[in-house]
Amino acid sequence: MRTKIVAGNWKMNKTPSEAAALVEGIKALVKDVTTVEIVVCPPFTDLKDAAAACAGSNVALGAQNVAWAESGAFTGEISAAMLKDLGVTYVIIGHSERRQYFGETDATVNSRLKAALAAGLTPIVCVGEKLEEREAGQMETVIVKQVKDGFADLSAEEIEKTVIAYEPVWAIGTGKTATPVQAQEVHALIRRTLAEIANGEVAGKVRIQYGGSMKPANAKELMDQPDIDGGLIGGAALKADSFADIIKAAL
Ligand code: 13P
Repeated sequence: MRTKIVAGNWKMNKTPSEAAALVEGIKALVKDVTTVEIVVCPPFTDLKDAAAACAGSNVALGAQNVAWAESGAFTGEISAAMLKDLGVTYVIIGHSERRQYFGETDATVNSRLKAALAAGLTPIVCVGEKLEEREAGQMETVIVKQVKDGFADLSAEEIEKTVIAYEPVWAIGTGKTATPVQAQEVHALIRRTLAEIANGEVAGKVRIQYGGSMKPANAKELMDQPDIDGGLIGGAALKADSFADIIKAAL
């Protein structure tokens, strides 16, 4: 059985002091949870304070991006070693907002993914189709390409160490969630694609999260689907009680 993993993607929200307070609030509500992996992904500037708040608890720390290079002339970028030194263990890669606003492609996702794996960070690789792609009947082609190109040149052992988040772009921040049946269909497609590029055993082990307007009211029915192994939560992760309720829905 795959351990469910619920991660909060805070996006560009919360100052360092607000981040520490939010982690404290989450910790208090989920201190008895032992069977779900819990991750918070604050902005870079919050990581140090969030790490201090997470220390010794069941809440792990993730970042929202990582550079593909180890160091050097890459203004504005943050390396995997810098993140590791702060106590970060997860990193989101290829979120649709990075793809939409900051020119990320499957090639940059692939480079960042390799850097994260080389440093021993657990990547959370995001894939998802846009509304017009779904309406044009291209969902399957888009998802398979994102997985195959994003994971290009990775060994089965490396693929096994990753987490994937399926985030239909049309469901992010819109209040419009994929139905459990719609999401399960894509999660199963992603798992079949992993079996093709790695093998069936690895495909059976990789956790695939759903993301896109997940909230306490819909989290359980989504995570009850056989191939949905948790959630990547945006808006509902910014409040301790709604994030904790989603985590409890994964129990
Ligand atoms: P919302 O939960 O706000 O729709 O955001 C989802 C998301 O993009 C998480 O990475």
